[in-house]
Amino acid sequence: MHAPRPKGEGQEDPRETSGLVDSDPGARIRRLREDLRNHAIAYHVLDNPTIPDAEFDRLFDELVQLERQHPEFATPDSPTLRVGGAPAETFTEVAHEPPMLSLGKASDDDELDGWYRRCQEGLRVPGEIELTCEPKIDGVALSLVYENGRLVRGATRGDGNTGENITANVREIENVPKRLRGDLPRLLEVRGEVYLREEDFLAFNAEAEAAGERPMVNPRNGAAGSLRQKDSRVTATRPLRFFCYQIGLLDGAMTPESQWQALEMLGDWGFPINSRVERAANLEAVRDYIEKLAAERQQLGYAIDGVVIKVNSLDAQQRLGNMLRRPRWAIAWKFPAEEAITQINEVAFSVGRTGAVTPVARVEPVHVGGVTVSNVTLHNFDEIERLDLRIGDSVWLLRAGDVIPKIVRVQTEARPDDAREIEAPKACPECGGPVDRAEDEAILRCLNGLTCPAQRREAVVHFASRLALDIEGLGSKRVDQLLEEGLINTPSSIYELTLEQLAELPRFAELSAQNLLDAIEKSRQTTLPRFLYALGIREVGENAALNLAHHFGDLHPLMEADIEALTEVRDIGKISAEHIAGFFAESRNQDEVKALRDAGVSWEPIQPERVERPLAGQTWVLTGSLESLTRNQAKARLIALGARVAGSVSKETTQVVAGPEAGSKLAKAEALKVPVMDEKGLLKVLGRYESE
Ligand code: IVH
Repeated sequence: MHAPRPKGEGQEDPRETSGLVDSDPGARIRRLREDLRNHAIAYHVLDNPTIPDAEFDRLFDELVQLERQHPEFATPDSPTLRVGGAPAETFTEVAHEPPMLSLGKASDDDELDGWYRRCQEGLRVPGEIELTCEPKIDGVALSLVYENGRLVRGATRGDGNTGENITANVREIENVPKRLRGDLPRLLEVRGEVYLREEDFLAFNAEAEAAGERPMVNPRNGAAGSLRQKDSRVTATRPLRFFCYQIGLLDGAMTPESQWQALEMLGDWGFPINSRVERAANLEAVRDYIEKLAAERQQLGYAIDGVVIKVNSLDAQQRLGNMLRRPRWAIAWKFPAEEAITQINEVAFSVGRTGAVTPVARVEPVHVGGVTVSNVTLHNFDEIERLDLRIGDSVWLLRAGDVIPKIVRVQTEARPDDAREIEAPKACPECGGPVDRAEDEAILRCLNGLTCPAQRREAVVHFASRLALDIEGLGSKRVDQLLEEGLINTPSSIYELTLEQLAELPRFAELSAQNLLDAIEKSRQTTLPRFLYALGIREVGENAALNLAHHFGDLHPLMEADIEALTEVRDIGKISAEHIAGFFAESRNQDEVKALRDAGVSWEPIQPERVERPLAGQTWVLTGSLESLTRNQAKARLIALGARVAGSVSKETTQVVAGPEAGSKLAKAEALKVPVMDEKGLLKVLGRYESE
């Protein structure tokens, strides 16, 4: 994976930062130090991070490794010896005593086992050690000092030894207690994490974007930036929250014996404690906790990046002690990072079932959210415009939980000179047919319908899918194979497959061939809603299919229905009605429906819903102006009673409603002897039937 080049370094060999070139470890070490310093300044001082945290950690780890292997390059100013940015000049410095440490990490079972074993060895206990498990909140560390129960100082972590005094800002955080309650110590220093809830972060960004201001990159960075505002009135507008996880210093109160007891005391004094903290009797219980929390991760409402596991007994913590800058008695289990940075290598276009041409970014493969991602959908061209995305760009990828990966930001500042614009294809990338982008639509479509191989494939896959005709064993791979072999070309052709044909195919044992044929046979007897859904008409999902089936009862009346009749169906609007009527108007679709029925696909008709339509079969014409209601209102009410409302008078017209200034339509009605009534007459008719 390529790390992005920091600003102003566009001319240098891009491989230098990529980790691919390490023939000269001295040069690589210097390079990493320089990059890490720049990234740290961007993050801590400028509040505008240039790379995701996980990428920073990766570069940092690489530097630690190299310095360990090559002690000859050691320097006292290496970023590995000084974490975090230099304190900005705005705030005064505070010293942390004891220092605010960071944590060692474990990302697999072996590393966790190793840590636990070292604890057992260090404590010389053969048995189990009681631990606590806490969510590792993905925010910013905060130190708070209380004298006789009053908040007197708030400070950032800084480099662990020296932080910044941000007391004025901390006073603006709602759930940071300003005065403690209960049995108060003379002096207390506590530590915890400041964070933003996801909903607050999203709401803030929506407002910022609407106001044309810079949005926050992510909740963590937003929390960091908000904490370090020069004007605490700005901090006050940010919905910051706090969880307390540790006592740093305590003087003049009962000393807790364990981390668990410390948290209880903190809670009693009024500090917010995370409700998901638990005790674990051994490593087995820790593993269960990790699994449970990982499953809950997306539902917490705030970002966590792992689990912090601590030896519960404070005496045992003391005996284990610290290494250079991290305690031996605690470790962080890291969840897979949900953000990563990568490069757009190319943009391809895929054609879906309805002909929608979707741009898909081919990216440099990157590990994010626990999987390797190499393709990312860009959805449509508006999205590309919104992101200002070009081929060659470095982008931030987000993959939270099982959600499909998404590009959230382009590093326009690191854009290479040869970055290329993404152009919409002029023809269908699959069949070369005409494409069209309807007005006001972000979506480009291939107009070739089922003659386009991509649409044909998707149509067959959809037809066989679980909620449609549910043909087990006919997934996208099988469909591809059958299409390639020329054995099928439309959904109806599935029903012509034979055992001989299938058994000859590679990767098709006789048994699976027979199973597929059995599944196809079974699908012949289906239901009307399934069949309608399986046709893949635009805008007709499961619900619409169900409503259509119950309204019309069978296929024939539905195929005959015009747009007006279709809009009478529950939840079918004008656009869906147009798609449905348009679908059945096409002769190739009529042929396909017939072919399916001839192949024996059938269903039980449904009793159509009984609707009161006293004017069914009648055609009304409105002319002239109306007084007590608009023409459209009158029209809608007539349609609701079952009438068709036409625009011109003919022999077929049942009734004309003429207001004042009625012109030629009235004359024509009189000539054709069509009955005419005025607005009063219309209101009478509506009144009579609508009340029933
Ligand atoms: S304990 C010596 N507990 O993770 C122990 N840290 O690298 C120090 N963090 O920046 C931290 N949730 O701010 C601890 N429940 C938790 C935590 C937590 C988040 C942060 C902490 C620090 C980083 C540790």
